[in-house]
Amino acid sequence: MALPSSPAPATKSKTCDVILALDVSTRAEAGAFLDRIGPDLRWVKIGLQMFLREGPEIVDAFARRGHKIFLDLKLHDIPNTVASAIRSLRRRPCDLLTIHATGGKEMMQQAAAAAHEANPNLRLLAVTVLTSMDDAGLAQTGVPGGAAAQVERLAALAFDAGVPGLICSPLELPALRAKFGSKPLLVTPGVRPSGVAAGDQKRTMTPREAAAAGADLIVIGRPLLQATDPRAALAAIRAEMAGA
Ligand code: C5P
Repeated sequence: MALPSSPAPATKSKTCDVILALDVSTRAEAGAFLDRIGPDLRWVKIGLQMFLREGPEIVDAFARRGHKIFLDLKLHDIPNTVASAIRSLRRRPCDLLTIHATGGKEMMQQAAAAAHEANPNLRLLAVTVLTSMDDAGLAQTGVPGGAAAQVERLAALAFDAGVPGLICSPLELPALRAKFGSKPLLVTPGVRPSGVAAGDQKRTMTPREAAAAGADLIVIGRPLLQATDPRAALAAIRAEMAGA
Protein backbone atom coordinates (compact mmCIF):
# COMPACT_ATOMS: atom_id res chain seq x y z
CA MET A 1 0.00 0.00 0.00
CA ALA A 2 1.53 3.35 -1.00
CA LEU A 3 1.09 5.07 2.35
CA PRO A 4 3.39 7.52 4.11
CA SER A 5 5.92 5.70 6.29
CA SER A 6 6.02 8.37 8.98
CA PRO A 7 3.30 10.49 10.55
CA ALA A 8 2.54 13.87 9.03
CA PRO A 9 2.76 17.02 11.12
CA ALA A 10 -0.27 18.04 13.16
CA THR A 11 -3.19 18.97 10.95
CA LYS A 12 -5.80 19.93 13.52
CA SER A 13 -6.14 20.78 17.17
CA LYS A 14 -9.27 18.82 18.19
CA THR A 15 -8.81 16.71 21.32
CA CYS A 16 -8.32 13.02 20.67
CA ASP A 17 -9.95 10.56 23.10
CA VAL A 18 -9.60 6.83 23.74
CA ILE A 19 -12.15 4.13 22.91
CA LEU A 20 -11.67 0.87 24.81
CA ALA A 21 -12.22 -2.15 22.52
CA LEU A 22 -14.15 -4.30 24.98
CA ASP A 23 -13.06 -7.55 23.33
CA VAL A 24 -14.21 -9.97 26.04
CA SER A 25 -16.93 -12.61 25.87
CA THR A 26 -19.41 -11.82 28.59
CA ARG A 27 -21.15 -8.87 30.19
CA ALA A 28 -19.85 -9.99 33.59
CA GLU A 29 -16.24 -10.00 32.38
CA ALA A 30 -16.72 -6.60 30.76
CA GLY A 31 -18.36 -5.15 33.88
CA ALA A 32 -15.52 -6.38 36.08
CA PHE A 33 -12.98 -4.74 33.75
CA LEU A 34 -14.89 -1.44 33.66
CA ASP A 35 -14.85 -1.44 37.48
CA ARG A 36 -11.07 -1.82 37.36
CA ILE A 37 -10.42 0.88 34.75
CA GLY A 38 -12.58 3.38 36.59
CA PRO A 39 -14.86 6.28 35.66
CA ASP A 40 -12.38 8.26 33.54
CA LEU A 41 -13.01 5.98 30.56
CA ARG A 42 -15.61 7.64 28.35
CA TRP A 43 -15.93 5.37 25.29
CA VAL A 44 -16.36 1.61 24.90
CA LYS A 45 -16.49 -0.37 21.65
CA ILE A 46 -18.82 -3.35 21.62
CA GLY A 47 -18.13 -5.84 18.84
CA LEU A 48 -20.04 -8.77 17.38
CA GLN A 49 -18.48 -11.17 19.90
CA MET A 50 -20.33 -9.66 22.85
CA PHE A 51 -23.31 -8.23 20.94
CA LEU A 52 -24.29 -11.67 19.63
CA ARG A 53 -23.76 -13.37 22.96
CA GLU A 54 -25.45 -10.82 25.22
CA GLY A 55 -27.94 -9.19 22.85
CA PRO A 56 -28.65 -5.51 22.15
CA GLU A 57 -29.47 -4.79 25.82
CA ILE A 58 -25.72 -4.76 26.35
CA VAL A 59 -25.73 -1.29 24.76
CA ASP A 60 -28.19 0.01 27.37
CA ALA A 61 -26.28 -1.68 30.18
CA PHE A 62 -22.97 0.02 29.42
CA ALA A 63 -24.60 3.35 28.58
CA ARG A 64 -26.23 3.24 32.04
CA ARG A 65 -22.73 3.02 33.49
CA GLY A 66 -22.06 6.40 31.88
CA HIS A 67 -20.15 5.29 28.78
CA LYS A 68 -20.57 6.41 25.19
CA ILE A 69 -21.10 3.39 22.96
CA PHE A 70 -19.38 2.51 19.70
CA LEU A 71 -21.22 -0.47 18.21
CA ASP A 72 -18.85 -2.18 15.77
CA LEU A 73 -21.21 -4.34 13.69
CA LYS A 74 -19.73 -3.53 10.23
CA LEU A 75 -23.09 -3.82 8.45
CA HIS A 76 -23.04 -4.74 4.75
CA ASP A 77 -26.18 -5.75 2.83
CA ILE A 78 -28.71 -4.32 0.41
CA PRO A 79 -29.82 -0.77 1.29
CA ASN A 80 -33.25 -1.70 2.68
CA THR A 81 -31.85 -4.44 4.92
CA VAL A 82 -29.09 -2.25 6.35
CA ALA A 83 -31.50 0.66 6.91
CA SER A 84 -34.02 -1.64 8.61
CA ALA A 85 -31.30 -3.09 10.86
CA ILE A 86 -30.26 0.42 11.89
CA ARG A 87 -33.87 1.38 12.60
CA SER A 88 -33.95 -1.61 15.00
CA LEU A 89 -31.50 0.39 17.13
CA ARG A 90 -34.16 3.05 17.65
CA ARG A 91 -33.74 4.70 21.03
CA ARG A 92 -30.75 2.55 21.96
CA PRO A 93 -28.14 4.87 23.49
CA CYS A 94 -25.59 4.14 20.81
CA ASP A 95 -23.25 6.88 19.56
CA LEU A 96 -21.20 5.29 16.76
CA LEU A 97 -22.00 2.41 14.40
CA THR A 98 -19.90 0.90 11.59
CA ILE A 99 -21.05 0.01 8.08
CA HIS A 100 -19.01 -1.15 5.06
CA ALA A 101 -18.52 1.52 2.39
CA THR A 102 -18.34 -1.24 -0.24
CA GLY A 103 -22.13 -1.59 0.21
CA GLY A 104 -22.30 1.41 -2.13
CA LYS A 105 -23.66 4.96 -2.14
CA GLU A 106 -27.35 4.04 -2.08
CA MET A 107 -26.80 1.75 0.93
CA MET A 108 -24.87 4.44 2.79
CA GLN A 109 -27.48 7.12 2.01
CA GLN A 110 -30.29 4.93 3.33
CA ALA A 111 -28.17 3.95 6.33
CA ALA A 112 -27.47 7.61 7.15
CA ALA A 113 -31.17 8.47 6.94
CA ALA A 114 -32.09 5.48 9.11
CA ALA A 115 -29.44 6.41 11.68
CA HIS A 116 -30.84 9.92 11.97
CA GLU A 117 -34.33 8.49 12.39
CA ALA A 118 -33.23 5.92 14.98
CA ASN A 119 -31.30 8.37 17.13
CA PRO A 120 -30.14 11.87 16.15
CA ASN A 121 -26.96 11.33 18.20
CA LEU A 122 -25.99 8.19 16.31
CA ARG A 123 -23.09 8.77 13.89
CA LEU A 124 -22.12 6.24 11.24
CA LEU A 125 -18.52 5.31 10.49
CA ALA A 126 -17.68 3.71 7.16
CA VAL A 127 -15.11 0.95 6.92
CA THR A 128 -13.25 1.38 3.61
CA VAL A 129 -10.62 -1.36 3.13
CA LEU A 130 -10.12 -3.82 5.97
CA THR A 131 -6.58 -3.49 7.26
CA SER A 132 -6.26 -7.26 6.93
CA MET A 133 -6.35 -6.78 3.13
CA ASP A 134 -3.21 -5.93 1.17
CA ASP A 135 -2.99 -4.86 -2.48
CA ALA A 136 -2.78 -8.50 -3.66
CA GLY A 137 -5.84 -9.50 -1.61
CA LEU A 138 -7.78 -6.54 -3.00
CA ALA A 139 -6.78 -7.46 -6.55
CA GLN A 140 -8.22 -10.95 -5.94
CA THR A 141 -11.58 -9.29 -5.25
CA GLY A 142 -11.45 -7.34 -8.52
CA VAL A 143 -9.95 -4.09 -7.19
CA PRO A 144 -6.66 -3.68 -9.07
CA GLY A 145 -5.46 -0.16 -8.15
CA GLY A 146 -4.15 -0.80 -4.63
CA ALA A 147 -5.51 -0.14 -1.16
CA ALA A 148 -4.54 3.54 -0.81
CA ALA A 149 -6.53 4.57 -3.90
CA GLN A 150 -9.48 2.40 -2.85
CA VAL A 151 -9.52 3.94 0.65
CA GLU A 152 -9.71 7.45 -0.84
CA ARG A 153 -12.33 6.45 -3.42
CA LEU A 154 -14.58 4.83 -0.79
CA ALA A 155 -14.01 7.67 1.69
CA ALA A 156 -15.21 10.21 -0.90
CA LEU A 157 -18.24 8.04 -1.66
CA ALA A 158 -19.09 7.73 2.05
CA PHE A 159 -18.89 11.49 2.68
CA ASP A 160 -20.93 12.11 -0.46
CA ALA A 161 -23.59 9.74 0.87
CA GLY A 162 -23.83 11.66 4.15
CA VAL A 163 -21.73 9.36 6.36
CA PRO A 164 -19.79 11.65 8.73
CA GLY A 165 -16.76 9.51 9.50
CA LEU A 166 -14.45 6.60 8.82
CA ILE A 167 -12.60 3.83 10.55
CA CYS A 168 -9.08 3.94 9.19
CA SER A 169 -5.58 2.69 9.74
CA PRO A 170 -3.37 5.25 11.52
CA LEU A 171 -1.12 5.23 8.46
CA GLU A 172 -4.05 6.44 6.33
CA LEU A 173 -4.68 9.49 8.54
CA PRO A 174 -2.25 11.95 6.86
CA ALA A 175 -3.59 11.29 3.34
CA LEU A 176 -7.23 11.42 4.49
CA ARG A 177 -6.75 14.70 6.38
CA ALA A 178 -4.85 16.18 3.43
CA LYS A 179 -7.65 15.27 1.03
CA PHE A 180 -10.78 15.77 3.15
CA GLY A 181 -9.72 18.33 5.76
CA SER A 182 -10.56 18.44 9.44
CA LYS A 183 -14.34 17.86 9.27
CA PRO A 184 -14.65 14.05 8.94
CA LEU A 185 -14.66 12.03 12.13
CA LEU A 186 -11.63 9.71 11.86
CA VAL A 187 -11.41 6.77 14.26
CA THR A 188 -8.36 4.54 14.24
CA PRO A 189 -7.35 1.20 15.74
CA GLY A 190 -3.79 -0.10 15.32
CA VAL A 191 -2.47 2.20 18.06
CA ARG A 192 0.16 1.02 20.50
CA PRO A 193 1.44 3.08 23.45
CA SER A 194 5.23 3.48 23.47
CA GLY A 195 6.89 0.40 24.94
CA VAL A 196 3.84 -1.89 24.55
CA ALA A 197 3.98 -5.04 22.38
CA ALA A 198 2.26 -4.62 19.00
CA GLY A 199 0.86 -8.19 19.08
CA ASP A 200 -0.80 -8.98 15.75
CA GLN A 201 -1.10 -5.28 14.78
CA LYS A 202 1.49 -4.83 12.05
CA ARG A 203 1.53 -1.15 11.09
CA THR A 204 0.99 0.86 14.23
CA MET A 205 1.40 4.40 15.54
CA THR A 206 1.70 5.56 19.13
CA PRO A 207 -1.24 7.51 20.62
CA ARG A 208 0.80 10.70 20.32
CA GLU A 209 1.58 10.08 16.63
CA ALA A 210 -2.04 9.16 15.83
CA ALA A 211 -3.35 12.29 17.59
CA ALA A 212 -0.80 14.45 15.75
CA ALA A 213 -1.76 12.85 12.42
CA GLY A 214 -5.40 13.88 12.95
CA ALA A 215 -7.23 11.04 14.74
CA ASP A 216 -10.39 12.10 16.60
CA LEU A 217 -10.63 8.84 18.52
CA ILE A 218 -8.19 5.98 18.92
CA VAL A 219 -9.37 2.41 19.58
CA ILE A 220 -7.23 0.49 22.05
CA GLY A 221 -7.93 -3.04 23.26
CA ARG A 222 -5.22 -5.31 24.59
CA PRO A 223 -2.82 -2.64 25.89
CA LEU A 224 -5.61 -1.68 28.33
CA LEU A 225 -7.30 -5.08 28.77
CA GLN A 226 -4.00 -6.77 29.62
CA ALA A 227 -2.50 -3.96 31.71
CA THR A 228 -1.72 -4.79 35.34
CA ASP A 229 -3.14 -1.39 36.26
CA PRO A 230 -5.64 -0.37 33.53
CA ARG A 231 -6.47 2.93 35.24
CA ALA A 232 -2.80 3.97 35.17
CA ALA A 233 -2.42 2.70 31.58
CA LEU A 234 -5.37 4.86 30.44
CA ALA A 235 -3.97 7.89 32.25
CA ALA A 236 -0.58 7.33 30.60
CA ILE A 237 -2.16 7.15 27.12
CA ARG A 238 -4.11 10.36 27.77
CA ALA A 239 -0.98 12.10 29.04
CA GLU A 240 0.94 10.97 25.97
CA MET A 241 -1.77 12.34 23.67
CA ALA A 242 -2.02 15.62 25.52
CA GLY A 243 1.61 16.21 24.57
CA ALA A 244 0.82 15.62 20.87
O1 C5P B 1 -6.32 -5.15 21.04
P1 C5P B 1 -6.24 -4.11 19.96
O2 C5P B 1 -5.83 -2.74 20.48
O3 C5P B 1 -5.43 -4.55 18.79
O4 C5P B 1 -7.74 -3.95 19.50
C1 C5P B 1 -8.11 -3.16 18.40
C2 C5P B 1 -9.58 -3.27 18.14
O5 C5P B 1 -9.86 -2.61 16.91
C3 C5P B 1 -10.10 -4.70 17.99
O6 C5P B 1 -11.46 -4.69 18.45
C4 C5P B 1 -10.04 -4.93 16.50
O7 C5P B 1 -10.98 -5.86 16.06
C5 C5P B 1 -10.40 -3.55 15.98
N1 C5P B 1 -9.96 -3.27 14.63
C6 C5P B 1 -8.62 -3.34 14.25
N2 C5P B 1 -8.26 -3.07 12.97
C7 C5P B 1 -9.20 -2.71 12.10
C8 C5P B 1 -10.53 -2.63 12.46
C9 C5P B 1 -10.88 -2.91 13.76
O8 C5P B 1 -7.76 -3.63 15.07
N3 C5P B 1 -8.81 -2.42 10.89
